[in-house]
Amino acid sequence: MPSATPDHSAPRIVLGVGGGIAAYKSVELLRRLRDAGYFVSPVLTRDATRFVGEVTFSALASEPTRTSLYGDPTTPIPHTYLGQHAALIVVAPATAHLIARFAMGLADDLLSATLLASRAPVLLCPAMHTEMWEQPSVQENLALLRRRGVLVMEPATGALAGGDVGAGRLREPEEIFAMVEHIVRGYRGPLSGQNVLISAGGTREAIDPVRVISNRSSGRQGIALAEVAHRLGAHVTLVSASELNLALDVVNQVDVVHVESAAQMRTALMERAHESDVIIMAAAVSDFTLDSAPIKLKKGAGVPVLELVATPDILQDLVAERRSGQVIVGFAAETHDVLENAVAKLQRKDVDLLVVNDVSAAGVGFEHTTNEVVILAKNAEASTVTLRSKEAISYEILTRVASLLNQGAP
Ligand code: C5P
Repeated sequence: MPSATPDHSAPRIVLGVGGGIAAYKSVELLRRLRDAGYFVSPVLTRDATRFVGEVTFSALASEPTRTSLYGDPTTPIPHTYLGQHAALIVVAPATAHLIARFAMGLADDLLSATLLASRAPVLLCPAMHTEMWEQPSVQENLALLRRRGVLVMEPATGALAGGDVGAGRLREPEEIFAMVEHIVRGYRGPLSGQNVLISAGGTREAIDPVRVISNRSSGRQGIALAEVAHRLGAHVTLVSASELNLALDVVNQVDVVHVESAAQMRTALMERAHESDVIIMAAAVSDFTLDSAPIKLKKGAGVPVLELVATPDILQDLVAERRSGQVIVGFAAETHDVLENAVAKLQRKDVDLLVVNDVSAAGVGFEHTTNEVVILAKNAEASTVTLRSKEAISYEILTRVASLLNQGAP
């Protein structure tokens, strides 16, 4: 029985639950959705019922749990009924098998049939062991679904079933809930109304028309910050030296300025700084540049001697022009004496938050999809955010930014 009188005019969420150990977390998601006034229809796969009881979902949902295409007392065709009335279908956990069935267009149970019989947005929240998550078949199925507009909440890295640790952990119910709110209600998140300026990627300094000096930054962390800031309600401008794209659901919502060199990045940022409430310098800006040769340097002309000159420190210039109330976040990539160097940098750069990466550690920083950071506050208070996706790290950083804005910092 539903726990309270359901509001049939409320947005209807079909909560699909796959057969994975993380199914128990979707009970908490269900509770949050109901508390927020959604009409929630749970659909469990047969294997999901091995992990959690139908009754648990029925007790908390707006209507009884469904598990089958057949024998529904309220309608002979539950998949079209559910699919047509849904404001959103959220699948948590989405197993490798469910993802494959959806990608292939199979409809051999109620949940997969409902996914096909709907034009509603779909949010998949995968959860599985790291080996399964990293399988090319799983990743390619997800890539295919993403191209079709399906939204995917990347799993976190952390404790998995059976004592293992790695990528594949279902995102926390509150994160999934915030995403649902964002999709269905255009949720006004903690950064709503704020202009957030973010830099991403490694700059490239031309040696000649074909060669550049650059660094190993992929731009993933800055891009994840832009995506999450948008989801938290901000108006986001991304100054990007990265070749990677934003996720499909935000690509048209974020203003992107493409730049290549440190000088171009500086101009793009300084022009926009005065109208920004928050500036996050996630880019790996080259510390050195040079005068580019007008034509390609020829091998036969001997080994060239390149004279490098220092680039301006953009972060320092932004801090120098900081307007009152503006929050500025810097990044520091360190390979040794990480915290000591970072505390000195925090003071030198005079930023509100310094996000510190130990780029010598495994799975951290440059080119990886995961990161582990220490966030240093102005009073040098350090908090470690252990290894997780760059998206999850972004939530941590931006939550702190939002609370600084609330306190009227600096
Ligand atoms: O001093 P360091 O290069 O380690 O500082 C890193 C921080 O400073 C990053 O936030 C980076 O984006 C920024 N930076 C900058 N301009 C430079 C070099 C770094 O804004 N020329």
